[in-house]
Amino acid sequence: MKSFGIIGWPLGHTMSPTLHNWGFEQLGIDAGYAAWPVSPDDLGPFMGQVRTRPISGLSVTIPHKQAVMAFLDRMTDRARSVGAVNTLYWDGEDLCGENTDVLGVIAPLKGLDSLPASAIVLGAGGAARAALAGFRELGIPHLGVANRTRSKAERLAADFGATCVDWDHRMDAEWGLICNTTPLGMSGDMADATPWDRDRFSPGAIAYDIVYNPLQTRFLREAAQAGCATISGLEMFLHQGLAQFRLWTGRDMNENGARALLLDALN
Ligand code: ATR
Repeated sequence: MKSFGIIGWPLGHTMSPTLHNWGFEQLGIDAGYAAWPVSPDDLGPFMGQVRTRPISGLSVTIPHKQAVMAFLDRMTDRARSVGAVNTLYWDGEDLCGENTDVLGVIAPLKGLDSLPASAIVLGAGGAARAALAGFRELGIPHLGVANRTRSKAERLAADFGATCVDWDHRMDAEWGLICNTTPLGMSGDMADATPWDRDRFSPGAIAYDIVYNPLQTRFLREAAQAGCATISGLEMFLHQGLAQFRLWTGRDMNENGARALLLDALN
C-alpha cells in the first residue's frame, strides 16, 4: 500500500485526506493519505524519513512551504518562481517539489471565453504569491497588488512585474479580476468583513476569493449582486488537490464527484 500525507504545524482541520482517500477509493488505487503534524524543529528528521519510509508523495502546508525546499533534489520552474512548494513527488530517485496552488488558481479561469485584461491581488502572503504567479502564467497583461502593509506589496510587485497599488486606493481603478487572498470574510471574527466596498464593483468584473470557509463570503455575495461573476475559494482548493493527485498517480479524479464531496464536507 502506498503512503501519502500532508505535513503542517499546527495542522488543524484539513480536507485533503478526505479528498485524496476518496480518489484512491474511487479509482481502486491501493494507497492511503494521512495528516501528519510536523513542527518546524521536526522537519529535518521527518524529511530524512521521507526517503527511507518510503513516502510516495506529500502535501506541504503552513509553515513548511519554503523550508521544505532545502530537502529536495529538484523543483519545477513554477515552484521556483513562487518561492514555495506545496507538493512533493518522486521522479525516479529524485524527490521533486511543485506548487499546485498556482495550478489551483489558474484552473477555474481556464474555461472562460476571454481572459480579463487586468487583475488586482489583495494581500501579500503566500496565497498572493500563488495568485500572481498563476495570473502571470495565464497571460493576464496588467497585474496589480495591494496590501495593508505596503512594503510587502512592493516586494511582490517587483517579483511578479505587477503594479503596487496603495491599499487605501485599491478600489479607485477598474480591474477585470479582483482576487482576495486576505482573511477578510473568513468565518469567525472576520466573517462580516470584506476587502471591497459593495458599490465599487464594476459590472462584468470577476470576483475571486481564496477564502472557502464560508463558501459564500460577503465579498462574493456583494459582487454577485453587483453583476460580477464569482469564483469561490473551494475551486482553488479542489484544483490544487486534483493536480497533486495527477502528479502522484498519473490518473484524474472525477472533478464533479470531488467537488460534491468537498461541498458536503464543508456543510
Ligand atoms: P497566506 O499565506 O494565506 O497568504 P498570510 O501570509 O498570513 O497568509 O497573509 C495574509 C495577508 O492578509 C497579509 O498580506 C495581510 O496583510 P499584512 O501584510 O498587512 O499583515 C493581510 N491581512 C490580514 N489581516 C488583514 C486585515 N484585517 N485587513 C487587511 N489585510 C489583512
